[in-house]
Amino acid sequence: MRLDPFELTAVDIAGVDVEALHALSVGVGWPHRADDWRLLIDLGQGVAALDEIGRVLGSAMWFPQAEAFATVGMVITSPRLQARGAGAWLTGAVLAAAGDRPIGLNATRAATRLYHGLGFRAERPVFQHQGEVGPAPGDGGLASGTLPAGAMPQGTLSRDAEPADLPALVALDAAAFGAARPAVLRRLLALSQGRVLVRDGRVEAFALRRPFGRGAVIGPVVASGDAEAVAVTRPLMALPDGGFLRLDTRQAEGDFPAFLSRCGLPLHDTVETMSRGRPWLRPGRPGAAPTTYGLASQALG
Ligand SMILES: CC(C)(COP(=O)(O)OP(=O)(O)OC[C@H]1O[C@@H](n2cnc3c(N)ncnc32)[C@H](O)[C@@H]1OP(=O)(O)O)[C@@H](O)C(=O)NCCC(=O)NCCS
Repeated sequence: MRLDPFELTAVDIAGVDVEALHALSVGVGWPHRADDWRLLIDLGQGVAALDEIGRVLGSAMWFPQAEAFATVGMVITSPRLQARGAGAWLTGAVLAAAGDRPIGLNATRAATRLYHGLGFRAERPVFQHQGEVGPAPGDGGLASGTLPAGAMPQGTLSRDAEPADLPALVALDAAAFGAARPAVLRRLLALSQGRVLVRDGRVEAFALRRPFGRGAVIGPVVASGDAEAVAVTRPLMALPDGGFLRLDTRQAEGDFPAFLSRCGLPLHDTVETMSRGRPWLRPGRPGAAPTTYGLASQALG
């Protein structure tokens, strides 16, 4: 008996049936909907691995976030194909396409060895918080007592995000993310419900929430401290009909993750931010400068 003699071809992911890609990600337990794939295919490029009869057995994507930076994501090989070199082959194809840009990614535990082998270095964990929420907003108070429930940081007010906020959101996100990505922000803002924090007429923090996976995801969240991050995230915590909410953050401790857990979003899983070419993340503590409190997604960063 001879089992599984795979012969694979890499094709442009833009031409591949989204339902087949969706089946691939469901097959490794990922929550993405077909619409989540469509968004990523609009924002990025990539390859899919097809077998001799056209079945989709693997994928890898890269997202040209800015001229000088890209992220890699949606690296998947079908379980029966794993540990045979296909993951490294597909990732190599997208790294070659991304050229000499520095690359950042968020690696699942299953993939850290693959990326180490391709020259990536680990930087910091990402904490995936998620859970069922109800129609009532979560507890907005900060455990440290610096911000009572329902209060706003001094001298600020919060309101819904509007299309005209886009330039301010792009600038804040660029300061936190390390590269300006107007196309990504424009697309996310159009799909999202958002809140901004305003001080002296200037937008100084924001959070966006859009449909994703089993429910909704809050991200990006950009703020210059825990109290501001909580202030823009809190109004997005309540889902009118209840449901499943997710937020990926690099904040390991402090008021922000404690607030997430109190709102019904406990820590679910951890992935590792890695980079190649140059370090991606700024060292130091949040507070002084705009900081990414919530990722747009693991693939986009
Ligand atoms: C992560 C994933 C893409 C790896 O794909 P793959 O086809 O198995 O990768 P490869 O066969 O090219 O293996 C790459 C490296 O990982 C190692 N590896 C593969 N499977 C492994 C496993 N289960 N445990 C430990 N190491 C493993 C291989 O030995 C190889 O290491 P080496 O270069 O030192 O020999 C695949 O397991 C997968 O799709 N997992 C689910 C989705 C996921 O987590 N994707 C990553 C997103 S960041």
